[in-house]
Amino acid sequence: MTALRVALIFAVVCPVGSSQLSRHEMDVFWKFFKIAHSKIYDTPAEEIIRQRMFENNVALIKIHNLKYDLGLHTFTMGINEYSDMSPEEFSLTMNGLRLDRSAPRFAQPSDDLTCENDDPLPDSVDWRTNGYVTPVKNQGKCGSCYAFSTTGSLEGQMFNKTGRLRSLSEQNIVDCSRKEGNHGCRGGTMDKSFKYIKTNKGIDTDDSYPYRAKSGFFCHFKKKNIGGEVTDAVDITTGREDCLQKAVVSVGPISVAIDATYRFQNYKDGVFKDVGCDRVDLNHAVLLVGYGTTDKGQDYWLVKNSWGESWGLDGYVKMARNSDNMCGIATAASYPLV
Ligand SMILES: *[C@@H]1O[C@H](CO)[C@@H](O)[C@H](O)[C@H]1NC(C)=O
Repeated sequence: MTALRVALIFAVVCPVGSSQLSRHEMDVFWKFFKIAHSKIYDTPAEEIIRQRMFENNVALIKIHNLKYDLGLHTFTMGINEYSDMSPEEFSLTMNGLRLDRSAPRFAQPSDDLTCENDDPLPDSVDWRTNGYVTPVKNQGKCGSCYAFSTTGSLEGQMFNKTGRLRSLSEQNIVDCSRKEGNHGCRGGTMDKSFKYIKTNKGIDTDDSYPYRAKSGFFCHFKKKNIGGEVTDAVDITTGREDCLQKAVVSVGPISVAIDATYRFQNYKDGVFKDVGCDRVDLNHAVLLVGYGTTDKGQDYWLVKNSWGESWGLDGYVKMARNSDNMCGIATAASYPLV
């Protein structure tokens, strides 16, 4: 076979195409996306809008990852179950932290004594390996991130106290802590949730009071189903990543608030860094479960999110650490005393 014929055959089989996907290819990807994430839409009109948003996300992800390959980003993006949502819609439904900066963070905050400890710190920590962390949960289309962050740190402290890891009820917090100032699926804070659990003298287990991703009209708390209690809560000195590090070493998983920008929606892997991130104006609550340094020398915080396992690193994100309090991770950190 002559070289020319090989070249011709090659040209027929693998045309050097443009980087654009054809309409047909896009439709095929859309079908696979719907199957992979069990998507069902109410009307054909909605599906058309969803597909358009999906295609916008695909374009965004492609450009972002190209920049990553060129060394311009420290993290990659990828398709997940939220790739059919617009950035505006996503932040409206998935964030839900309502920090009240004028109010004291906890009624009677205990002093953050952990930061005065000068013991040497390990290079890395991952509380998952010590049994302190339940599997990744999914808040659904409800701004209840604060409830997941609250149960996350309390599950860890209850495990420390009792030796038993039990999943605690976010729905209990969503339905029952209005008096403390939370707003169900429309947002709240961890400090108010700790206060609720303290005043209520307990929170039910997840099994007994399952998650529904909706604000309930009634509170179904039952004393006999209590799985955790709070005596007080500690606010970590604001803005101090060194104090946050000491706390996560000596205490366990810590509730933290962050600014989750639109780039967060499609986060896949690597160390999340966004210079456009705010350090004060925070909108999302997550759980800090450890920290480390990548083999490229990037310091990161290991963070459990509540957006299911299709998002990020099986539901987790590595966020830039020692990077001038990136996204405000050390601004409003706290943990319960049990
Ligand atoms: C609970 O925490 C204390 C103090 O940090 C520690 O000594 C103990 O081993 C922990 N218990 C469990 C079950 O991890």
